[in-house]
Amino acid sequence: MSKSLLIITGHSQGLGRAILDHYLGDQSFQIIAISRTKLEIDSPNLQQISMDLSELDVLERQLPDIFSEVEFDKIILLNNAGWIGQIKPIGNLGPKEMRVQVNLNLLGPMYLTNAFIKRYKETDSEKIVCNISSGAASRAVEGWSGYCSTKAALSMFTLVAAKENKSENFHFYSLAPGIVDTGMQGEIRGSNESDFPEIEKFKAFKEEGKLVSPMEVAEKIAYLFDHTELFKEVIQDVRKFEIS
Ligand SMILES: NC(=O)c1ccc[n+]([C@@H]2O[C@H](COP(=O)([O-])OP(=O)(O)OC[C@H]3O[C@@H](n4cnc5c(N)ncnc54)[C@H](OP(=O)(O)O)[C@@H]3O)[C@@H](O)[C@H]2O)c1
Repeated sequence: MSKSLLIITGHSQGLGRAILDHYLGDQSFQIIAISRTKLEIDSPNLQQISMDLSELDVLERQLPDIFSEVEFDKIILLNNAGWIGQIKPIGNLGPKEMRVQVNLNLLGPMYLTNAFIKRYKETDSEKIVCNISSGAASRAVEGWSGYCSTKAALSMFTLVAAKENKSENFHFYSLAPGIVDTGMQGEIRGSNESDFPEIEKFKAFKEEGKLVSPMEVAEKIAYLFDHTELFKEVIQDVRKFEIS
C-alpha cells in the first residue's frame, strides 16, 4: 500500500473537519492536523497539533516537526484555516485584528508552503499544495477588505509557486470552495447591514438552502487530489466541476 501524508490546517470545524473525516477513513493516509482546538478523536493515523497559526514565531518553531524526515509517496499540504476578519469598512478596522487576519490567512500559508517546498522539492513524491481561496479573491466586497486582499494575495503567491516549480509531480492549487454551510457563513450573517451591505443576500442563501454542505465540497477536493491530471490550472473553483 502506498503511503500518503495530508497536512491540513483548520481541521476542527467547517470545511476542514469534513476533509479530515474524509481522509480519516483512508488507512493509506497519515494526517497532521493543525487548529487551536484539538478534537476528541483517537486515531492511529491522526496527529493533532494545537496552535494559533496567527502566532508566526510559534509556527516557525514548529515547522521541523510538521515537515519531518519521514518519506511518503504522496504529500498534500492543505492550507484551509482562515478568518473572515472584522466585518467593517476600512477606517473602522482594529490594528490587532488586521494583523491576526493577515498572519492567519496569508503569512501562515506562505510559511507552510515555503517550508513544504524546501523540504520536499527534491523528492520523488507526488506533491500537492492547495491553498483555500474564495470568490472574494477576485471580487471587491464592502466590509471584507482584509478577507478579499489576503485571499487575493495568497492566490498570487500560489501562482508564483507553481511557476517556479514546474514539474510533473508538483501541483499547486488556489481553490475556491463555493459558499459553504459553516461557522464562517454564520459569522457573516451575524454582521450589520451598515458594515456589510450584502448581508440580506447572504441571509437568503441560507434561508433558500443555497449553501453547499462541507462534506460535498470535501468530496470534490479529494477528487481533485486524486485526479490532478484533470486539473491543470492553478486557479480552481469547486463550483465549476463535478465528480464523474
Ligand atoms: N464557508 C464559506 O462559505 C467559504 C467560502 C469561501 C472560502 N472559504 C474558506 O474556506 C476555509 C475554511 O473556512 P470555513 O468556512 O470552514 O471556516 P470555519 O468554519 O470558521 O473554520 C475555520 C477553521 O480555521 C481554524 N482557525 C481559525 N483561526 C485559527 C487560528 N488563529 N489558528 C489556527 N486555526 C485557526 C478553526 O479552528 P480553531 O478555531 O479550532 O482554531 C477552524 O477549524 C477558509 O480558508 C475560508 O476562508 C469559506
